[in-house]
Formats: sequence, C-alpha cells, structure tokens
Amino acid sequence: MTQKNFDKWASIYDLIYGEYKNDLGFYKNEAKKSKGKALEIACGTGRLYLEILKTGVDIYGIDISDAMLKILKQKAKKLNLKPKINKADMRNFKLKNKFSLIIVPFRSFMHNLTIEDQIKSLKNFRRHLSPSGKLIINFFFPKPELMTKKLGKVWKYNVRANKKKLRVQGKYFLFDEINQIAEFTQSLFQKNKEIWKGRFKMTYFYKREFELLLRLAGFKKWKLYGGFDYKPYKEKTQEMVWVIEN
Ligand SMILES: C[S@@+](CC[C@H](N)C(=O)[O-])C[C@H]1O[C@@H](n2cnc3c(N)ncnc32)[C@H](O)[C@@H]1O
Repeated sequence: MTQKNFDKWASIYDLIYGEYKNDLGFYKNEAKKSKGKALEIACGTGRLYLEILKTGVDIYGIDISDAMLKILKQKAKKLNLKPKINKADMRNFKLKNKFSLIIVPFRSFMHNLTIEDQIKSLKNFRRHLSPSGKLIINFFFPKPELMTKKLGKVWKYNVRANKKKLRVQGKYFLFDEINQIAEFTQSLFQKNKEIWKGRFKMTYFYKREFELLLRLAGFKKWKLYGGFDYKPYKEKTQEMVWVIEN
C-alpha cells in the first residue's frame, strides 16, 4: 500500500467511518488520565483526534496521507480548533517531544505489511514515549472461522451523506494464510452506480506473535483487553486492545 491508496480513501473515509464511536470514550478517558502530551499515530481525518483535542488535551497527530490531513484541517477550522499535525510515516517519524500517551487506533498498525516495518514502527513509538508513558494499539482478532466465512462474500450497509442514501460494499478476496495478509475491496454506490472503489491490504496478528514483536522492540510490560470496556481478552473477543508500558 502506498500513500496514494490512503489519499484516495480520504474522500470517502468519513462517509464510511465518521459515525463509528465504539472506541471514542476509551481514548478520551485514557487521554484525560495521561496528563502530559498525547500523540495519535495515523490520525486520518481526525475522527478521534478532533474529539480528544476538543477536551483540551495537548494532542499531536501524524499521518502518511496529505489528503487525510487536509480534511482534518478543514474540520478543525470549522470547529475553531488548532490541530498540531504533521505528515509523517509511523516507521520513521521524528518529533522533538516525548509523549505520555501514544495511541494507534482503529487497525492502523495493520498497514505495516512486513515484520521489518512492524518492528521499526514499534521501536519508533518507544523512542517517542516518556519514561512512564503508555502506548495503546488496537486491531482485530483474526478469528479463523470468521475469516473462512467472510472470504469472497460481499458485505453491504447503507450510509446517509448530504441527504443522499449511499451503499457501502466490501469484499475480502484474499486471506494469504502463509504471510498473514488480508486483501479486500471497498466500494461506494449511489443509486446502484459505483461512484468509488478502493483496494486494501492488511497484515493480521495473533496474540503471541504480537507479544514477540513487543519484546523485540524493547517493551516488557503490557495488558491486553478484549474491547474498549477494559474487560480481559478472551478467545472469542473481536478486538485486541493492547495497553503497553514504557
Ligand atoms: C483506518 S485509518 C485510521 C484513521 C484514524 N486513526 C481513525 O481512527 O479514524 C488508517 C490511517 O493510517 C494511515 N497510515 C497508513 N500507513 C501509515 C504510515 N506508515 N504512517 C502513518 N500513517 C499511516 C492512513 O493514511 C489512514 O489515515
């Protein structure tokens, strides 16, 4: 995946995910608790970033996509907010500050497709954490039976935008089980006419593998939750929410 894929996604991102709020309370709570500076990695169009900024937290953001950041800035202007955001890559960004909280929400870490990129990113997050800082990473648990069921099947749902009814349609067309890469398409339809189509790749992780990656990056202590309600992670839970200490 290149920056181009994410730039293209930006034009429809809020139509599809703008109303997703399951994780918002959790991140707001963590940001409030953390006291010092916060950083959102891959802040996108500001779905979470702007909500956290509104609460008065000193939050910074980085994202690889100019188009995503442009939308974030437009939204901030309307809200009279001053975002502190930079175009940067999670694998090699360099900021002067250290952060007491770094968050990598909503599966963004899954865009690191190689082990090298995963370790590079984790080490870089660690470099930017203050000594008692906290790193939070969320991605989904790749349930094998669910993936088998989903492969090749089209999922659909309707969204409303500017009083227009639009249909979002997606399909996983590959689960490369050897390399743990999922590929899927996402389309937007207006009155049965396809008005947008994107193609995406994501790595999926299992629990023990991610623990090894954390160790390789120098982390020693973490908790894993099965959602945004601080309940323990169980075999059947959908989300993996990693809360990692520096
Ligand atoms: C699923 S969106 C999440 C956006 C936002 N955090 C949210 O929760 O709505 C994934 C984001 O990751 C960004 N991204 C992908 N690879 C990146 C990288 N290597 N460095 C920084 N941002 C990246 C994309 O541009 C996109 O905005």
